Amino acid sequence: MILNQWYIVLESREVREKPVGVTRLTEKLVFWRDKSGKVHCLSDPCIHRGAALSFGECINDHVRCPFHGLEFDSTGRCVVIPANSVAKPVPENFVAHRYHTYENHGFIWIFYGDAEPGDLKPEYFDGLEKHSFHSRIDPWTTHYSRAIENQLDVAHLPFVHRKTIGRGGHTVADGPRLTWIHPKRFRVDVYNRSDDGQPAKFPDETPIKSPNTQHLDFIFPNLWQNYLTDKLRIVVAFVPVDGENSLLYLRLYQKMVTVPGLDKIFNLIFTPFNIRILHEDRRVVQTQVPKASKLDGDEMLFPADMPIVQYRRKRQELQKAK
Ligand code: FES
Ligand SMILES: [Fe+2]
Repeated sequence: MILNQWYIVLESREVREKPVGVTRLTEKLVFWRDKSGKVHCLSDPCIHRGAALSFGECINDHVRCPFHGLEFDSTGRCVVIPANSVAKPVPENFVAHRYHTYENHGFIWIFYGDAEPGDLKPEYFDGLEKHSFHSRIDPWTTHYSRAIENQLDVAHLPFVHRKTIGRGGHTVADGPRLTWIHPKRFRVDVYNRSDDGQPAKFPDETPIKSPNTQHLDFIFPNLWQNYLTDKLRIVVAFVPVDGENSLLYLRLYQKMVTVPGLDKIFNLIFTPFNIRILHEDRRVVQTQVPKASKLDGDEMLFPADMPIVQYRRKRQELQKAK
């Protein structure tokens, strides 16, 4: 993981008032919503004797442990130890680890790290306010870094997807051309073609595309978009569960079909197709070892892997940053 980043970890619909326990970023976490609708997150194992707070309940906007009734507020402070009586102040060191949360676009982020997020807010893709979307959650038995790299991999389509989006045998990957939009976001333009005997072109030999043509976007630490057209985009949040498991939160955004009802049918038809493509990827990516990728591993890379190398380099830079 990269410390001190906002990670998408859940969709809004997964958290209601009742506490819910999940494993994310290798941690057991409890989430709940207070009466105003705000989402809160604490470490799930109770600081008393380790029972899961997520098995408890929400009382007065606090989460109450099911074992001995300790109550925690949204900052993690224990406010009641029933066995001591309400008359006795709670010792100051009775504090559960709290994660800052942020909710927008139907996603929930947590700030993972040892610093305070301050005014830093997570970034999302622009121009999606008027699109409708349909979402699916897809489990992969791999580290989230491998799942991300797969979506930056421009050389696998004619092999992994030879019966679907990779038909046509466009095996040669010119470029690819990668552009940093800012220090935590880049764009990749892809130029694949059939092998006509000409060597693959270097990135600076490929034309610069206009902003609204098909391309890939990635925002650190775990958000990706396939910008097909302004009206049709595929967004995936790669949610780390632990070192060997990830959840892909897939969304198909569209504003091509706007008639109410028909938009749902459109999304319901195309989402299974996207899941089929993802499963073509998943089948192979889950075989990759080691499960987590490394910048300085012993893989033999070639120029089409450049976006993957750039991803690894930046990830390492962010991991080392304080
Ligand atoms: S384990 Fe939670 S109150 Fe005892
Ligand atoms: Fe793929």
